[in-house]
Amino acid sequence: MGTLYIVGVPAGRADELTLRAQRTLEEVALLVTEEGTPAPDLPVGCGLAAPSVPVTDTEAILAALETGDVALLLDERRAGPSVPASGLIRAALEGGFPVVPVPGPSLPVTALILSGLPADSFICLGSLPAQPDERQALLAAVAGERRTLLILASPAHLPDTLACLYGALGDRPLAVVVVSGEGTEMVWRGRLGQAAGQVAARPDWLGCALVIGGARQPTGRWEKARLRAEVRARLEQGLSAREAGRQLSALSGWPRREIYRLAMEVTGNMDNLDDVTAQREPDREGMLNHVAALPHQCRQAWALTRDLKLPPHHQRANKVLIAGMGGSAIGGDLAAAVVADSAPLPILVHRDYGLPAWADEHTLVIGSSYSGDTEETLSAFEAAHERGCPLLAVTTGGRLARLAGEWGVPLLSFHYRSMPRAAVGYLFVSLLGILQALGAVGDLEADLQEGLSLLESWGAELAPDSPVARNRARQLAQALYGRVPVVVGAEVLAPVARRWKCQFNENGKGWAYFEVLPEMDHNALSGLHFPAGAADRLCVLFLTGQGLQPRNRLRLDLTRQILEEQGIACHAVPVPGRSKLAQALAGVQLGDYVSCYLAALYGADPTPIAEIATLKRRMSEGR
Ligand code: F6R
Repeated sequence: MGTLYIVGVPAGRADELTLRAQRTLEEVALLVTEEGTPAPDLPVGCGLAAPSVPVTDTEAILAALETGDVALLLDERRAGPSVPASGLIRAALEGGFPVVPVPGPSLPVTALILSGLPADSFICLGSLPAQPDERQALLAAVAGERRTLLILASPAHLPDTLACLYGALGDRPLAVVVVSGEGTEMVWRGRLGQAAGQVAARPDWLGCALVIGGARQPTGRWEKARLRAEVRARLEQGLSAREAGRQLSALSGWPRREIYRLAMEVTGNMDNLDDVTAQREPDREGMLNHVAALPHQCRQAWALTRDLKLPPHHQRANKVLIAGMGGSAIGGDLAAAVVADSAPLPILVHRDYGLPAWADEHTLVIGSSYSGDTEETLSAFEAAHERGCPLLAVTTGGRLARLAGEWGVPLLSFHYRSMPRAAVGYLFVSLLGILQALGAVGDLEADLQEGLSLLESWGAELAPDSPVARNRARQLAQALYGRVPVVVGAEVLAPVARRWKCQFNENGKGWAYFEVLPEMDHNALSGLHFPAGAADRLCVLFLTGQGLQPRNRLRLDLTRQILEEQGIACHAVPVPGRSKLAQALAGVQLGDYVSCYLAALYGADPTPIAEIATLKRRMSEGR
């Protein structure tokens, strides 16, 4: 009965064959080679007398073992016996034949030694799978591994392999070790991120080992790139998005919802975001309820101003200045835009400290502040008092209400518990009521009624329980997900665009911008090119409505066309409504819903505005 010797043989220099290996190879009756591995190039004088067969010829090999010894040649460029070689070893053991290893040179071990990277414990992946999907899955599975990684690569495919490793593992220490006729040497040492451009294979390289530093000590959350790779790997293994989220949440430190969304993004299956926007879960403080309450707020605000009688000093005003910030200023913009075509006096919104020089005793100054404690608004209000301007306050309380009481000026006080921006119905419609009481505009009742019935009918379509197929707000949130919104509006839809931008910031917790037509066509339109890649992250929404000036409508279409020609994602967003007031209300309602759904997609609670609160606190401490 013969013995199966497993003989380690060099791929490069023949004199690296050990004496014991040389003797064994001379004495055996049969040589077995791995597929693609030629018989070794032996030192001069060492004859290889025995015939050779491929490792897959198990029957012949076992028959030969009955009468003599057999040597299986293990090429040093392998991490270990191949699958068929392992099969042969198993068959020999099962047949009762002794199996004896005769160690020889080993590229993996030499590479580890030469790399200088931790070598006491390592993972050898052998050669990476040729199939991209399998390769990705394997790399994703080891991306978090803290031990040194060792990969055997074909020199011909080195650039691709390095690029793929960098993509999957990130920038890590790397040593490239090659075997050639000159022996085994380290030819490059650096980081994966630089290697792809710097390491070029030479024709005399016979094999190559890549030794890569393990993942760094986890610092809490995984990096997004790693999470994405792990999510992709699990989806490719057939796991559902939900199951991937469940498996990875604790490991990665990312919330399940975030992982689920990433899974949707990876599969391009944005339709499944549908059920994310339908969920109210992240909206812990009920912002969506305030959005739904917009018609109620408008009715209440209108009723508040129904019997408003303004003193004669106010009636004589020939200018209106609305002092406010953020959610308490946008109502002023909306009101000014709604009456722009009919009001015989200028209406300006002032978002700053103090007052412009032109504000005089014929300027009605309306202090608009939900809290009544916003310092810029109070500063303007106090300056107006000193200047003898007729004054009026719109607020829920705070110092503004106290000053109005002290100075005996009209106070429109309302009680609605929410964030200031969520009380937009009060802060907008009350101003219309004031302008009407001032005689600055005709009766807005019919337009308001049109707006209110629109809010109610369209609102039902935009609500969270309305399916995405007919829910424009949920569709838009999905289109905006992962992109920076730029909202474009003209005329009455210009302040609506601004409102959307602010709501995307405050509710959606994201970057957002707005542009106003026609002005945009004189500057922003040429700023589409740099920095490279920025435009790919934008989503530009063009708000359109009935009654736009024909030249503005044409501009809107042509501007969108130019952006689309540049490959920028654009969407036309028709806002219903015949009157300007109805359009303003419908536009606000749509944008508010979109901002909440976008927040849901990002897993954010739309209500808290931590940074704004911090800034306000620090400003008050800095007095
Ligand atoms: C918060 C919000 C803010 C505030 C702004 C001014 O929901 O929308 O933009 O409106 O900070 O505060 P108030 O409205 O209290 O004068």
